[in-house]
Amino acid sequence: MITLVAAISKNNCIGKNNDLPWNIPEDFKHMHKLTLGKVLIMGRKTWESIPENHRPLQNRTNVVITRNNDYELPEGVERYDSIQEALLKHKDEEIVGFGGQKIFEEMILIADVLEITHVDQVVEECHAFFPSIDLNVWQETWRKNYEGFNFVTYKKI
Ligand SMILES: NC(=O)c1ccc[n+]([C@@H]2O[C@H](COP(=O)([O-])OP(=O)(O)OC[C@H]3O[C@@H](n4cnc5c(N)ncnc54)[C@H](OP(=O)(O)O)[C@@H]3O)[C@@H](O)[C@H]2O)c1
Repeated sequence: MITLVAAISKNNCIGKNNDLPWNIPEDFKHMHKLTLGKVLIMGRKTWESIPENHRPLQNRTNVVITRNNDYELPEGVERYDSIQEALLKHKDEEIVGFGGQKIFEEMILIADVLEITHVDQVVEECHAFFPSIDLNVWQETWRKNYEGFNFVTYKKI
């Protein structure tokens, strides 16, 4: 199964200045729970946006997509030059599309589930966006509302 895990603003922003536009500890915990034991597919910039002391993300398979074959990664972290190659290597495993924009754009076409944190903010000067969620394709199946953000699960119809 392929799940995309993302936190997105009201204007679909996911990143600004190669960082998250917010700091929501509950969302980190939620993301942690959703990703444990799974294969995380992320773009090179998302990898670089994770603080060095937190990467690789523990108890998960960290996969970085880059076209740079010389890009150095710590032992145990996998590098591929396409999403397809990573998926082939990990077929029959639980896959998480972990961002950023290009990864989400490609993987939303093949994903089964979206685990979205909707953040009640509009982010100016955003540089990375999540694709729009077409409600003819995605059905909300679960929701938990908090002050300032909501966790929502969507399944492909
Ligand atoms: N809110 C969220 O849930 C969330 C989640 C993840 C990330 N983010 C944020 O998003 C931002 C980073 O995302 P981003 O969109 O700027 O960059 P990104 O997608 O993480 O990384 C882009 C890079 O990944 C590689 N790449 C991506 N797609 C590829 C493909 N199909 N084939 C080969 N290589 C590919 C390329 O690396 P090379 O240039 O090395 O070839 C490309 O330059 C940060 O601000 C981060 O904090 C937010």
